Amino acid sequence: MTPEEILNEIAEQTKVCTRCKLHHSRKNAVPGVGNAYTKVLFIGEGPGFHENEQGLPFVGAAGTFLDELLEDAGLNRDEVFITNVVKCRPPGNRDPEPEELEACKPYLERQIATIDPDVIVTLGRVSMGHFINNGKISLIHGREFWSTGRMVIPMYHPAAALHQPSLRSVVKEDFIKLSGLLKKARSARQRLVSQNEVGQETPGEDLPQDNDAEQLSLF
Ligand code: URA
Repeated sequence: MTPEEILNEIAEQTKVCTRCKLHHSRKNAVPGVGNAYTKVLFIGEGPGFHENEQGLPFVGAAGTFLDELLEDAGLNRDEVFITNVVKCRPPGNRDPEPEELEACKPYLERQIATIDPDVIVTLGRVSMGHFINNGKISLIHGREFWSTGRMVIPMYHPAAALHQPSLRSVVKEDFIKLSGLLKKARSARQRLVSQNEVGQETPGEDLPQDNDAEQLSLF
């Protein structure tokens, strides 16, 4: 099967998925959309109201800002793939619960394996948590980490900047730096592939603990 065919198959599976309770309230699953051959995968948290209506990721206000951020990084939607850690809308845009994240994990893992990106950009705290334990977004945003041979860059969720205007320039600066990190990731990954080391963790650093009590609504 081609990568497009596999991604389409995953999308069809999410539409009929009943692995967690989020399927009861979904109007449309939001499996993700974009270029199956991209080197950069963006992963948000979960569909919000508009995404649930349309079945597409990041089509609300956060999506409009994400388009601007992609442009800052010299990218557009046609050349990246955008998905979420959970494919169905958590009611009231609450955070996905641990069993919902777990139930949806096989879809995300298969998307990652199929796309095989050089870089994964996580958007927001929940998505970051899929790859980085105990990270504190305010301390590690925009920095590179390595997870199973891939560069992972935790970014603030675009909606965070809509809620907190002082973050806007910070988020934009992180995306402006993204194109440099993409080049770095590509050459580092080629080196790992040639040394047959893909799949290994790059030695980690001690991460600052996330003690932030304040949680933003990110939709
Ligand atoms: N927020 C997300 O995390 N994902 C979307 O698709 C939309 C808003």
